Amino acid sequence: MGVASLGYIGFEVSDLKAWDDYLTGFLGLMPGHGNGASARYRMDDRAFRIHLDKGAADDISFIGLEVETPEGLQALRERLEKAGVPCAPASDNLKKERGVRDLLVLTDPAGLQVEVYVGATALTNMPFHSPAGVSGFMTGGQGAGHVVLASEKIDENRDFYTRLLGFRLSDTIGMAISPDFTLVLEFYHCNPRHHTLALAPMPAPKRLHHFMVEMATLDDVGFAMDRIGACGVKQTMTLGKHSNDRMVSFYAATPSGFEVEVGTAGIEVHDDVWRVTHHEAISMWGHKRV
Ligand SMILES: [Fe+2]
Repeated sequence: MGVASLGYIGFEVSDLKAWDDYLTGFLGLMPGHGNGASARYRMDDRAFRIHLDKGAADDISFIGLEVETPEGLQALRERLEKAGVPCAPASDNLKKERGVRDLLVLTDPAGLQVEVYVGATALTNMPFHSPAGVSGFMTGGQGAGHVVLASEKIDENRDFYTRLLGFRLSDTIGMAISPDFTLVLEFYHCNPRHHTLALAPMPAPKRLHHFMVEMATLDDVGFAMDRIGACGVKQTMTLGKHSNDRMVSFYAATPSGFEVEVGTAGIEVHDDVWRVTHHEAISMWGHKRV
């Protein structure tokens, strides 16, 4: 029993207006509820997939990990308590703000707030409509996308996300930084999405290296590339295809400095037939720094 998907991502950002333009005009997310100090954005029938709070961090501030059933959440809570991991039931206010029926608040070993919840609000009466014409995002059982977290506490984070929360290793990629040093990135799944979480064992100015949104078609990604100039966005990596999840994607800088990966056609991982492998390159082709 573990978590089932990345339900939502929270960012603390200094420029809400720039992010609003970026998420709606460039990435094509649909505005949800906002109040001047925070704003939410939709990718599907859920009330939100991305939550912004105004603040100075310009970094990821929380992730929401979804559990399938109330019984699953209770079982997870018992496992965490048995392991001595503090997990506080959320206040009614926080549950209301997130629009979920039940929620536990944890902190990962690197200090990121992790919200494990059940019962997210679905707005099937208010269909998703992309303001930029994106035909759809790959979400559903695969969740909102993926996050790549940079931290020197990789041993602790690995234990937290795998043994306690149920993530499974998909594969690893070795990046040769110098003749004597190879950085090994670890990719983890909790549903058929190849990776919902990747851990990068390195010190970094921000917790988040990048987050990824998966669009329904290659044309959606192509049209997003065509919006780069018009939206004043800085592309950071060319179109390419990753070696492990085979995602065809490009990267761009967000208004907070960290990057977004805009991709399509990532492969699925099924535990009964999947074998953990190791790659020596990040990409099959492309993904050159701009
Ligand atoms: Fe990625």
